[in-house]
Amino acid sequence: MAEEMLSRGEGLTSSLDEHLETIVVLDFGGQYAHLIARRLRQMGVFSRIADPELFRPEDEPGLVGLVFSGGPRSVSSNHRFELKFKLEEVRVPLLGLCYGHQFIAQTLGGEVSPGDRREYGMTSLECDPGSVLMAGLPQRQAVWMSHGDHVTKVPPGFRRTAWSPTIPVAGYESPDGRILGLQFHPEVSHTEYGAQILEKFVRMCTARATWNPGSIRERLVERVRVEAGDRPLFLLISGGVDSLVTLALCIEAVGNQRVTSLHVDTGFMRWNESDAVMEFLRGLGFNKLHINRAGERFFKALEGVVEPETKRKIIGRLFVEELSHSLQEIELDEGWMLVQGTIYPDTIESGGTRNAATIKTHHNRVEEIEKMIQAGRVIEPLSELYKDEVRELGRELGLPGELVDRQPFPGPGLAIRILAHDGSMPPEGYLDEEEQFKSICASYGISGAILPVRSVGVQGDERTYAHPAAIWVEGPLDWDKVLTAATTVVNTLRTVNRVVLSPVDLDKAPLRLEAHYLMASSVEQLQRVDHLCREATAHLGEIWQMPVVSLPLLDSQGKRAFVLRPICSRDAMTASVYRMEPNLLQEMSSKVLDVPGVGPLLYDLTTKPPATIEWE
Ligand code: XMP
Repeated sequence: MAEEMLSRGEGLTSSLDEHLETIVVLDFGGQYAHLIARRLRQMGVFSRIADPELFRPEDEPGLVGLVFSGGPRSVSSNHRFELKFKLEEVRVPLLGLCYGHQFIAQTLGGEVSPGDRREYGMTSLECDPGSVLMAGLPQRQAVWMSHGDHVTKVPPGFRRTAWSPTIPVAGYESPDGRILGLQFHPEVSHTEYGAQILEKFVRMCTARATWNPGSIRERLVERVRVEAGDRPLFLLISGGVDSLVTLALCIEAVGNQRVTSLHVDTGFMRWNESDAVMEFLRGLGFNKLHINRAGERFFKALEGVVEPETKRKIIGRLFVEELSHSLQEIELDEGWMLVQGTIYPDTIESGGTRNAATIKTHHNRVEEIEKMIQAGRVIEPLSELYKDEVRELGRELGLPGELVDRQPFPGPGLAIRILAHDGSMPPEGYLDEEEQFKSICASYGISGAILPVRSVGVQGDERTYAHPAAIWVEGPLDWDKVLTAATTVVNTLRTVNRVVLSPVDLDKAPLRLEAHYLMASSVEQLQRVDHLCREATAHLGEIWQMPVVSLPLLDSQGKRAFVLRPICSRDAMTASVYRMEPNLLQEMSSKVLDVPGVGPLLYDLTTKPPATIEWE
């Protein structure tokens, strides 16, 4: 069977349709490549991310435009990107942003000077309303900058289209208006006319809007049909949005009778979640449904394990083992294909493009699944979609709103929300920056303590593993103040990648480290706290996701500290902190105390980056 699949040569990256009009975003390593791609898609044209050193325009039949993203390198360093094509020979519109703007200018004979200081944030620019991208827009505009170098001279024949007293060339265009550069970021919402500027670029690339929920649905149904051929489909249901949308898509593509699904209850689901999911699917008339209650085996395999990547690897491996056991029982017909709900950012976060360092091993990317992908036995119909697109697709497919709008829940579930620890002393040096931390706190009139645990973060495209610091305030909560203080702390200190708000004075009631493992009792306690918090916040539409995390820290009465991490996001690549109504927060903090063994509820004040959404 495997050979038969191999000969099909299909897998994860088989594209939706190679002639689909596409704007390719070359990712020079900047944090905004995904944001650019999403904005372009929202304007009705498909967009994908590619590696600048591998991309060749002739391999992309649907290419209608190219964007060169920003990136951390300096064009004046020795580390220059080598393209496989000549800029002058590209026939489609070309837009360089930030680093991309400098790269294009330098490649075509302009000049770039290293900046003596880096500039971040809002700047006011003078723009030429007669230029292609600024046509009809005001002459003076507020834009978002983040750069060190800047262009000082445009390439021969080009003209500049934007400038400021400190930046001689903040925008340029070629004589034929096809090659365009902008020093600032039109993709971020802080840039006043960013959306209009990008829209002008998109309309230069194509007059048609070929990417919308209706077209996505048709394409993906067709893709599943083609990739499935006449094989039976087998699908794992986690209960999350992605897997439910994938299921609906499969049913639409090949019909109820050819789709079998399995839910593996790893023991790390939310309160009552496995049963609720099964009930919902049965209600839809979907009955080729199996459940494997494997919690005990997962807890056993995770006994004594504390390191986040090890946890993920064990869970991933066991998951596949459980899958094999279940499959023997289910007895699927020969030649079945596995369908997974992997979405675009998941692929990238596991190190999908070369410039993004491996941030974490993704559940859908463990070795065993990789092998099945290699053997052409996996279909991932959502692999090119962002979360907001998956939700729109779900609505198109007729799934109820309360399901489609559910908060995302990670594959390993609550296992990455229990910060395990062996209880040994914190690593030496964890208080090295305590003095500096205290003085930052003092400058904001607050108090704080660095916590003896570590959690995962992501800084400069690399994974970090550093300490959270807790702060607490006297009197009413001032969100602006605590969030600014939190940003200052993580930006200044090397050993701290998160800041949490404590409801109690931790100098008076300190938290102590104690061993904490992934076992039935810790899961059950977390489930109860999570359930309470979820009920209390269900009405708050702006919260995109809200992990609740169980810590290896106990207060003086032996009660465990938990963290609430409500965030606002669009696709989990970046996140801001949700500002909860202080009364509600207080109410929740006291409600959770009713759960046996539960103590202070800390509130995560850190954006992503530098902290990830999950604590792991
Ligand atoms: P981080 O913590 O990296 O999470 O900021 C980004 C998003 O990904 C989710 N997440 C996962 N989802 N399998 C999943 O299906 C995983 O292993 C996994 N790890 C993190 C996380 O909940 C957030 O939405």
